[in-house]
Amino acid sequence: MEDALTVADLKEMARGRVPRMFFDYADSGSWTESTYRWNADDLQRIKFEQRVAVDLSDRTLQSTMAGRAVAMPVALAPTGLTGMQHADGEILGAKAAAEFGVPFVLSTMSICSIEAVSDATGQPFWFQLYVMKDQEFVENLIGRAEAAGCDALVLTLDLQILGQRHKDLRNGLGAPPKFGLGTLAQLVARPRWCMEMLATKNRTFGNIVGHAKGVSNTASLSAWAAEQFDLELDWKKAEKLRKRWQRKFIVKGIMNVDDARMAADIGADAIVVSNHGGRQLDGAPSSISVLASIVDAVGDRLEVHMDGGISSGQDVMRALALGADGTYIGRSWLYGLGAGGQAGVRRALDILHKELDLTMAFCGERDINKVGRHNLHAPLPW
Ligand SMILES: Cc1cc2nc3c(=O)[nH]c(=O)nc-3n(C[C@H](O)[C@H](O)[C@H](O)COP(=O)(O)O)c2cc1C
Repeated sequence: MEDALTVADLKEMARGRVPRMFFDYADSGSWTESTYRWNADDLQRIKFEQRVAVDLSDRTLQSTMAGRAVAMPVALAPTGLTGMQHADGEILGAKAAAEFGVPFVLSTMSICSIEAVSDATGQPFWFQLYVMKDQEFVENLIGRAEAAGCDALVLTLDLQILGQRHKDLRNGLGAPPKFGLGTLAQLVARPRWCMEMLATKNRTFGNIVGHAKGVSNTASLSAWAAEQFDLELDWKKAEKLRKRWQRKFIVKGIMNVDDARMAADIGADAIVVSNHGGRQLDGAPSSISVLASIVDAVGDRLEVHMDGGISSGQDVMRALALGADGTYIGRSWLYGLGAGGQAGVRRALDILHKELDLTMAFCGERDINKVGRHNLHAPLPW
């Protein structure tokens, strides 16, 4: 793993180890992928204000996110199908996060179940909820997350309907999945991945199969999943869930000031400014470009977190300087996972930590909690 100096290095290593359909599943956005690209491009356009002759001893990146002490304000975002990037992917990600001291968010659509992650790590993690039509299933899921000691619920609001990713359809990863000779060839080309997958029991959606009515195997699952996202999910339902969940409540998928205010009104502890990594509304602006207006509107009422396009410590610094209280990485940890399992995720976190520390120092700061707009070179690109 020491050969990887950047997240981009990890991405190339993952490309060589993960079957193409799963690598593409991570490395894709919806339709033209414009928003996916803008997330990263807009971050790059923000310049720093360099300062010198500042005492740089005793620097700290320690902070808090939703009441949790963190080694740096970077959490591992919830990602579906992660156990397909690497066998037991969610367990390995959660272990790396716990070892490093940052939050891990388990997706509803994970391969390893809530219980499998909890048993393997023995550490509290956060659970991301997709609201399904089957209310009994949702209640059961929340109860399972509670029983596993999850200290925050992350309610994702930007996926009642699914954005279309052309790569997934071409690779046969739609619902239901279509496995042909091409798929087989992709798997055969990654023998190590296959061996590791054969050695684990975690090979289907662990939170769903055996828990949702009528879903006992992968075939019935894809039909169920495609129909189950609750089209009627609205702020009233979100508020009910807020009241139902007694611990920290985070609303994910906010890109609009009025929606941010609604999240504050229902009593969320934090929001995640996010366009789902450019996987839903193609043509939506980058998350970083809307962050400051949302911080200005609700930053005094709840914590504002942000994700989308973060692939370096500089990017984390940019988000924090624009007022984010915390950030999440999606693909950056998935590439680490694909490249080298738990050690790869750890490597991604180490890289980000070092980059963030140096960037903060070059900007003349010693405490990550003091970073602000004064650390950015004016004017902003938008
Ligand atoms: C492969 C993949 C799967 C994802 N699955 C979920 C999911 O199950 N639930 C969710 O709330 N967000 C999901 N997301 C969105 C991430 O939580 C996060 O918002 C996004 O990845 C941030 O952008 P980044 O990948 O550029 O860091 C997924 C993202 C990716 C790349």
